[in-house]
Amino acid sequence: MSAQRRRGLFIVLEGIDGSGKTTQARALLRRLRRRGLKAAFFREPTRGRWGREIKRLAARAGSLTPEEELALFVKDRRENVARNLRPALEAGTIVVLDRYYFSTIAYQGAKGIDPERIRRMNEAFAVRPDLVIVIHVDAADGLARIRGRKTRDELFERQDYLVRVAGLFRRFAGPHIVHIDGRGDKAAIGRAIWAEVEPLL
Ligand code: TYD
Repeated sequence: MSAQRRRGLFIVLEGIDGSGKTTQARALLRRLRRRGLKAAFFREPTRGRWGREIKRLAARAGSLTPEEELALFVKDRRENVARNLRPALEAGTIVVLDRYYFSTIAYQGAKGIDPERIRRMNEAFAVRPDLVIVIHVDAADGLARIRGRKTRDELFERQDYLVRVAGLFRRFAGPHIVHIDGRGDKAAIGRAIWAEVEPLL
């Protein structure tokens, strides 16, 4: 079984701001660890130099063009793939990642950049996930959920923008992509996610 696996399982959670994906990613991690499995959690944007740069610049609305934004997310991701994701997977660890290049396709795509170009750019270097779980909530509900958060960031949280982002997230299709309704209660969503992950273990 796991001894024959050449690399760990790579699971990505995606969704708009306020979709609950971070909560679900952490719940999934706890479930995996309770099973005695070695699992690591990472997120994008990272807390590395490019991720911090993204945060700093995002705090000043309009300081970046969509292309500049795209370039920074890709730099951050290259570093994450090389420093964190690849080494963990090669060590046989299960990786749970909160946002990946599907976020770039949806968020920077919603700013007018060709989604296919974003995909090609990323797939040229990014490790392919074994499972991508996209959690869906309405933009208004997502915004309502994060309204109270201190780290709220004006640049990324406008509702009309998030409606377009959500529309792009809905378009993802493929054998490794699963769409989950994020409107129910947390535990039920957690069980729906686990039902997708467990058969892959
Ligand atoms: P988020 O996951 O909310 O991070 P945090 O919880 O640390 O604030 O991501 C921050 C914002 O960055 C979010 O609105 C989505 C956006 N984003 C992109 O626009 N493109 C990307 O490629 C990624 C990874 C995130």
